[in-house]
Amino acid sequence: MFSKNKNDKINQQLDMERIPNHVAIIMDGNGRWAQKRHLPRVAGHKQGMQTVKEVTIAASELGIKVLSLYAFSTENWKRPSSEVSYLMQLPVRFFSTFVPDLVKHNVKVTVMGDITRLPESTQQAVRDAMADTANCDGMILNFALNYGSRDELTQAAQKLAEDVKSGSLDITDITETTFSNYLMSAQLGEYADPDLLIRTSGEERISNFMLWQIAYSELEFVSEHWPDFNAKSLENAIIAYQGRHRRFGGLKNQ
Ligand code: IPE
Ligand code: IPE
Ligand code: MG
Repeated sequence: MFSKNKNDKINQQLDMERIPNHVAIIMDGNGRWAQKRHLPRVAGHKQGMQTVKEVTIAASELGIKVLSLYAFSTENWKRPSSEVSYLMQLPVRFFSTFVPDLVKHNVKVTVMGDITRLPESTQQAVRDAMADTANCDGMILNFALNYGSRDELTQAAQKLAEDVKSGSLDITDITETTFSNYLMSAQLGEYADPDLLIRTSGEERISNFMLWQIAYSELEFVSEHWPDFNAKSLENAIIAYQGRHRRFGGLKNQ
């Protein structure tokens, strides 16, 4: 009688008073979406770009403060060079058509990851988008581009070691807060840690995404491939999130 399946959750209403501040998404399944339609994998990436646009606007209208999107991992360089080249061109195409909409919705673009390894035209598109939206103070659209969490943590360790060596940081000052300030997510300030992490395509793994920051995130794995995900799917994921009881190690009604 009290069975709780996924459809029950979908019939519940979204509570606009309890929208998560930071939503992070592992956008997965573009290749499989395309293959199911007998299309080349890159057709899935192209369609996935449309999903990014729809979900960005929807997230901003819901009042989400930060939307982090995993677009290219430090491990994705292992893919065939033709696919990598296509993925590298996507930010150029995305920003060339979408920056006016971002500005209209007051969305500011930020990036996590080492963009210096990307082709010059991609770096330029990313830098221009950040500059063009620098004065927007609504939602932050935070792209993880050539991002890997182990890379982020390793780089943080190197910078910390340098600062200790130069005397600007004392070992006893290395707290969880100071450590967080050395991560690529530090630019997100009080919203650095995702409240909700969504992964599409049915895979239930983290694939080197924000390992430190998701310590207490609610995880939602959905079966849709990324090109099929939409504003309604985002709402459903948030409804599922709103049904969770976050305890952070304490007790439910504390
Ligand atoms: C996600 O889709 C996009 C990137 C990782 C760049 P995939 O390309 O991983 O699609 P699948 O998982 O192979 O279907
Ligand atoms: C994770 O997806 C990376 C991005 C979404 C950018 P992958 O498709 O690369 O992850 P694995 O290889 O299935 O773990
Ligand atoms: Mg994948």
